[in-house]
Amino acid sequence: MAAALGFGAFILLLLLLLLLQPPLRAAEPSVEPAAPPETSAAVPARTRRGPAPVTDVAKLCVCDLLVAQCDVNCCCDPDCSAADFSLFTTCSVPVVTGDSRLCSQKAAIYSLDVEANPPERVFKLIDQVNPSIFCIHATNYEQALTFSSPEMPTSENFDQLLKQFGSATFSAEPESWGMNTDDQNLSDANETYRYQYGVPIQTVDAFLRLPSPVVSSWCSDENPAGFLVNQATKCIRSVSVEKCDNIQALNMLFYINSSILAVPKSSQMVNITVQSIVVQSLNGMRTLLNDSDIFRLPMILDELCINIVLGVSYHITYTDAGEIIEAAAAFVLGAINKEALSIEQSFEISFTQVNTTPVPLSGNPGYVVGLPVRAGFRPQGSGIIQNTNKYGQLTILQSTSTQDCLAAQGARAPVLFGYNMISGCKLRITAALKCQPLAQALLDLLKGQGFPEYVASFGNSQAQDVLDWVPITHLHISEQSSCQIPVSLEIEVKWAKYGSLVNPQARIVNVTATITTTTLKQLPSGRERTIPITSSVVFTDVSSPAEPGYKAWPTINAKLPFDFFFPFV
Ligand SMILES: *[C@@H]1O[C@H](CO)[C@@H](O)[C@H](O)[C@H]1NC(C)=O
Ligand SMILES: *[C@@H]1O[C@H](CO)[C@@H](O)[C@H](O)[C@H]1NC(C)=O
Ligand SMILES: *[C@@H]1O[C@H](CO)[C@@H](O)[C@H](O)[C@H]1NC(C)=O
Ligand SMILES: *[C@@H]1O[C@H](CO)[C@@H](O)[C@H](O)[C@H]1NC(C)=O
Ligand SMILES: *[C@@H]1O[C@H](CO)[C@@H](O)[C@H](O)[C@H]1NC(C)=O
Ligand SMILES: *[C@@H]1O[C@H](CO)[C@@H](O)[C@H](O)[C@H]1NC(C)=O
Repeated sequence: MAAALGFGAFILLLLLLLLLQPPLRAAEPSVEPAAPPETSAAVPARTRRGPAPVTDVAKLCVCDLLVAQCDVNCCCDPDCSAADFSLFTTCSVPVVTGDSRLCSQKAAIYSLDVEANPPERVFKLIDQVNPSIFCIHATNYEQALTFSSPEMPTSENFDQLLKQFGSATFSAEPESWGMNTDDQNLSDANETYRYQYGVPIQTVDAFLRLPSPVVSSWCSDENPAGFLVNQATKCIRSVSVEKCDNIQALNMLFYINSSILAVPKSSQMVNITVQSIVVQSLNGMRTLLNDSDIFRLPMILDELCINIVLGVSYHITYTDAGEIIEAAAAFVLGAINKEALSIEQSFEISFTQVNTTPVPLSGNPGYVVGLPVRAGFRPQGSGIIQNTNKYGQLTILQSTSTQDCLAAQGARAPVLFGYNMISGCKLRITAALKCQPLAQALLDLLKGQGFPEYVASFGNSQAQDVLDWVPITHLHISEQSSCQIPVSLEIEVKWAKYGSLVNPQARIVNVTATITTTTLKQLPSGRERTIPITSSVVFTDVSSPAEPGYKAWPTINAKLPFDFFFPFV
């Protein structure tokens, strides 16, 4: 009995001793710190709690085995000095990551800079997103959710408000969007002194017109040519030989006699020059005139009217600062006879940038979180054309303080990589609103001016590399009914990590824009209803989970180059 008691006491003593013992260093290097080893031996021996887990990956060091001594090639060992590092050949544990059960984990990355003399240790702390976990992300772009309430003028702040808003124009965009631009800050600052995508090209009297069939196939001269909007239109004009020299739209001068303003509201003008004149005979034969600087005005000749305009092709040259520096027009002139009652005219406008400087990048190569998503258009047979303002390429509706959709028109928030956003406004519907114009106005409101067709898959995709751009897929969710109005636009950007695990690059792989429409029920007259209009953008990580390379044996994937047997087969 006594012996048994003595043995029991001995076991108890042994346990107590073990408990009081300072924790041992982890003996086995492991990159997966399931039970993080303790680095500091100074845990008070009397507290009965286990050592607090080390959650700071920068302090976690699994190869640090020797107490108060530098372990060879252990780049995270706090006992090592610069002199020790210079003797290392490699870092035995290059990456230390935190809890793999978290959506986002810190990773400490160690390497040696052998180029340096003497070699130095390089330490980086990065955030890793865990692809193998279903993560719920909160909408995290505050600016898009909130709006600053307008400041009420008082006697104290009046001068300051006047300074801010007192000029003829002011930008509705918060200044901060222009703040962190690296290479564009100068030109971003003065938006009004440059053309932006889709803005009508101004002329001395009004704007450059590109006649187009608006309500019917007849030409309407009220269609403004938008900056950087390549267009080609065809429409019909009524003619008669007797009056042909009096019809303005048949006269070359009508298309070139008012000069273009180099930038909106400027006094600097750009004349439209005649680039070429092609004359088309009655039987369709075309000849190029070699003296294109001579105007050919319509005139009546032997029951024919010659030199009437059949086609105009404008060519605008602009700079990266959004300034027009050249405008040229190429004409096709033709003739009509007495029988002709109408002619078809065709119009075209195209744009070329001079001295193309690279458009600001949003990462190199992968997107950097918080930088704008780059997007643009692809005119027939050309590279991608982007808005010169990098915050204006892919945008969603911006919430405004009035919440009134029709008043909100024009305010847009840039889509920033990795930031989920929701914005919206309220639309008051009265019985007087007609379905078709309302549907169009809402679509314009949701998509904004010039919704792009392509999104750059990398932060540094080049405009000429069309394959580096992802087309935006448009989806429609609608009910079956006669009057459908769009009520929401959801943009989903799917992205994946690309490249090495240590330094993965964000790459956009698919972008969908989903318009949801709803049925507009006719209201009894005098009644009104308010419906919410929303737009949102969601970033979804679709990377396939990374797989550790050591689990499967490598297989040999032998493949010969396709021309290996050339020239024998
Ligand atoms: C951008 O702004 C900063 C600070 O205002 C200035 O130092 C820098 O020269 C500007 N960069 C360009 C390209 O204008
Ligand atoms: C606007 O920007 C251009 C360069 O992009 C600069 O030359 C011009 O002085 C600026 N104008 C104003 C009013 O700041
Ligand atoms: C341009 O030409 C048209 C037709 O010839 C004429 O009516 C118009 O006044 C001219 N505009 C200017 C600015 O000269
Ligand atoms: C543009 O045209 C006007 C009138 O025809 C002329 O006076 C002016 O010199 C021209 N400007 C240029 C830059 O050619
Ligand atoms: C212009 O065209 C005429 C015929 O229409 C031709 O005789 C003349 O040599 C041409 N001039 C030039 C410079 O090509
Ligand atoms: C993007 O995803 C949508 C829906 O899954 C699909 O219909 C579309 O073809 C995809 N687009 C591209 C360019 O892969």
